[in-house]
Amino acid sequence: MHLHKYEKIWLIFGMGSLALFLLIIGFAAFWKGTHPQSHIETIDPQNVEAHESFKPENLGLREVADGKYTVNIVASAFNYDFGVDEDGKSVKKIRVPKGSTVLFQITTKDVIHGFQVAGTNVNMMVEPGHVSRLETVMKNAGEFTVVCNEYCGIGHHQMFATVEVYED
Ligand code: CUA
Repeated sequence: MHLHKYEKIWLIFGMGSLALFLLIIGFAAFWKGTHPQSHIETIDPQNVEAHESFKPENLGLREVADGKYTVNIVASAFNYDFGVDEDGKSVKKIRVPKGSTVLFQITTKDVIHGFQVAGTNVNMMVEPGHVSRLETVMKNAGEFTVVCNEYCGIGHHQMFATVEVYED
């Protein structure tokens, strides 16, 4: 079979870009730990308190086993609700030891928000009517800023919190 020179170039270009993009996806998934949020579960956005994980007293950080934590969060315009501390103040910062496994569970009462822990592989879209979950191992110590990365309205830039990973 005879292939025209330009046809050959075009075929090599097409197959090459396919291989390149598969490599990029593989790199992001296996080396960088980027995964889509899991456990597709629906929830009534008008009544998130009815869900065990999102009752006001169950919000925030909780140690569920040795070195294993769960963080329950309710997002709304323009706040992440991590519950309150002993003094009744809103929690804006959570602290976990380095190397711990953390399951983030988040839902929203109103519009679509984002939940990205910048500098880690935690990056979820939070949609009304759904629970977004992602489990990760906190490999590096430091202070990581949680940001909303879906434009959700006039106070979008005010939606942030902090995750501190301390040396154990
Ligand atoms: Cu919430 Cu942007």
